Amino acid sequence: MKVTFYGHSCFKIITEEGKKILIDPWISNPLAPKNIDLGPYDFILITHAHGDHLGDTLKLARTAVTEVIAIHEIQQYLLKQGIPKVTGMNIGGTYKVNNLKFTMVPALHSSSFPDGGYGGSACGFVITLENGTSLYHAGDTGLFYDMKLIGELYSPEVALLPIGDHYVMGPKEAAKACDLIRPEIVIPMHYETFPILTGDVESFKKELKKYNIPTVLIVPKIGEEITI
Ligand code: NI
Ligand code: MN
Repeated sequence: MKVTFYGHSCFKIITEEGKKILIDPWISNPLAPKNIDLGPYDFILITHAHGDHLGDTLKLARTAVTEVIAIHEIQQYLLKQGIPKVTGMNIGGTYKVNNLKFTMVPALHSSSFPDGGYGGSACGFVITLENGTSLYHAGDTGLFYDMKLIGELYSPEVALLPIGDHYVMGPKEAAKACDLIRPEIVIPMHYETFPILTGDVESFKKELKKYNIPTVLIVPKIGEEITI
């Protein structure tokens, strides 16, 4: 798969069969690169309704080429805003489409729309690609022990985990998350966007060393496509 980090929690994934996925589409975030792919995407995934994750969905998803996948409450909101193709689901379920599987998993976080409306539960996603490889995007979350179940059930090769602290896990918690999930590769996210997100890659690296696990830390340059 090809993975491009667009800053904050926004990632573009290109699958083996060439499907284009954008997760947490805040492409106007302060760290976003200039060469951002504006789509159309095959799928846009939204982990929760906070503005830094719902992001630019209303701009990017106004085409029936793009299928948005989100929790029920976000689906209802987007349909009311005139977004043509939105699939709602809920935590625990797997949606199979185009030889891909999207599993909605828990996240320990709140969720409200920028206008204050209730956004349903916050969630994460496990994407299982055509060849069986899987990737876990944790969304915004605190550490929770059931991350171990995500590892046991879906064995994600790649985990995208927040490390910025304050609103989400910091480096210490994210390292423990790796111990629970045991991915081959971890990519940190949700850091450096604002001064209040103080969790940094160096601390994460140190915390990871405390666990005797084979997980490899990859820190992509923003806007750089990496092949995994
Ligand atoms: Ni949030
Ligand atoms: Mn956030």
